[in-house]
Amino acid sequence: MWLFASFFAAIGILATTINVTEAKFDYHCNLTAKGNPKFPDNFSFGVSTSAYQIEGAWNEDGRGESIWDEFTHKFPDMMDDRSNADVAADSYHRFDQDLAALKELKVNHYRFSIAWPRIYPTGDISSKNQKGIDYYNKVIDKLIANGITPIVTLFHYDLPSEIQKFGGFANPLIINMFVTYAIECFENFGDRVKIWNTFNEPIDYCKPGYADANYPPQINAHGVADYLCMDHTLKAHAAAYRTYRSRFYEKQRGKIGMALNSRFFYSHTNDQEAISRGMQFNLGFLSHPIFSKTGGYPPAMVETIHSNSLKEGRISSRLPRLDGKWKEIIKGSADFLGLNYYTSRYIKRASEPMGENPSWDRDYDCDAYPDETWVRGKPFWLYCVPEGLEDILKYIRDQYGNPEVIITENGWSDDGDLEDDDRIHFIKSHMQAALNAVNDGCNVTGYTVWSLIDNFEWQRGYTNKFGLYAVNLNSPNKERTPRKSAKYYRKVIETKTLPSI
Ligand code: NOJ
Repeated sequence: MWLFASFFAAIGILATTINVTEAKFDYHCNLTAKGNPKFPDNFSFGVSTSAYQIEGAWNEDGRGESIWDEFTHKFPDMMDDRSNADVAADSYHRFDQDLAALKELKVNHYRFSIAWPRIYPTGDISSKNQKGIDYYNKVIDKLIANGITPIVTLFHYDLPSEIQKFGGFANPLIINMFVTYAIECFENFGDRVKIWNTFNEPIDYCKPGYADANYPPQINAHGVADYLCMDHTLKAHAAAYRTYRSRFYEKQRGKIGMALNSRFFYSHTNDQEAISRGMQFNLGFLSHPIFSKTGGYPPAMVETIHSNSLKEGRISSRLPRLDGKWKEIIKGSADFLGLNYYTSRYIKRASEPMGENPSWDRDYDCDAYPDETWVRGKPFWLYCVPEGLEDILKYIRDQYGNPEVIITENGWSDDGDLEDDDRIHFIKSHMQAALNAVNDGCNVTGYTVWSLIDNFEWQRGYTNKFGLYAVNLNSPNKERTPRKSAKYYRKVIETKTLPSI
């Protein structure tokens, strides 16, 4: 009798679980359509990858070592599965397989990155490697021959190790070294590449790399070196932008932006000051100096970090000052804002000191937390909050005079099932957010799924799958297999609408 009762109870629980699972996305990962159900004709749909995460061939054809090669080789325990990207999806040898997937998807653009250590193996111009240049020429030519617009990122975390030896992003010399490398890329590829991102997600390599010691170069000078890394990144970006405008623009007519990552913030108590602080310490860190009318770092950061620094007994702020000259060089130094959006948070002012002393967290002085009803993906940080994308796009429109925005990344990760309905719900609701924003006057011109294929997800190794296409990592041919989401995305691209699932 007892057995029977528990059996039926178990079925009951199971049924409820199934219902909840089915209902979860309907309720929490859905966004109501507002306005025109069709994207504008010239709206561009694409997919994204980055060099280190997919290329493999880490020591072939003259490529130099990057800090991620060094890190994964020396400290395999820092990766969940002790993996590295020595081979990864082997795109260096298998670009044709990636191209076949791009063609099947019918994407309008493909965003990928150039590995600095393939072009300059030591990071310096003296080490120029023609084979690396040839490889990207081939990729770009094949994309263009197939009507796919290349969107190229110049830096996506894989800094040449030799540059790190003298400080990497903590040394202002990085500014000129980056500009020299950027010039090499403009000279070799700029006749065909018309959309460039200088850097990808600076917060995401400066904080874990220079403050928290989780990423290479594993420095934990929190509250000091992370800010220096951001400052040098920003200056390198602006210097590359100005160089492009003065030396290449007249002939090449391309656009330059930077891929910035940010969450949007909400408040349970309608604390607008906390929300504004959240935006200033995240998106605003680099978007305010470039896109605001006044330029310079966001006021909340300038004031807090200056006053905390003095309290700590320092003679000046840990946040570098943007003097008049740099402020002007940086202001307006982008033709579009690249936005990597994945998730959002609620925010409130911290009730006790956050993080270490000093640190970005301590200066920030806010507690950001997810709403417990939000649906979570595989990683601890990824909750589905499509309204956050719509709201951040409106924030950019209102704060910065409606600049062009290309959504350079958005995606969902899971265990890798081919029947990936959750990913479909995620991308559909986020494309709805982009469309709602367009219908509300935001100048959003493109949307990009991260990622085309499964790849090396940094410290998560290969345990988190982000691909529209699965990659058989165990097979010598590394076959790419479309997931259900790839088929859905293709329908979106074909119709420029969001068909029901
Ligand atoms: C942002 C990064 O640009 C990319 O490298 C990473 O794989 C995705 N987010 C997913 O975490």
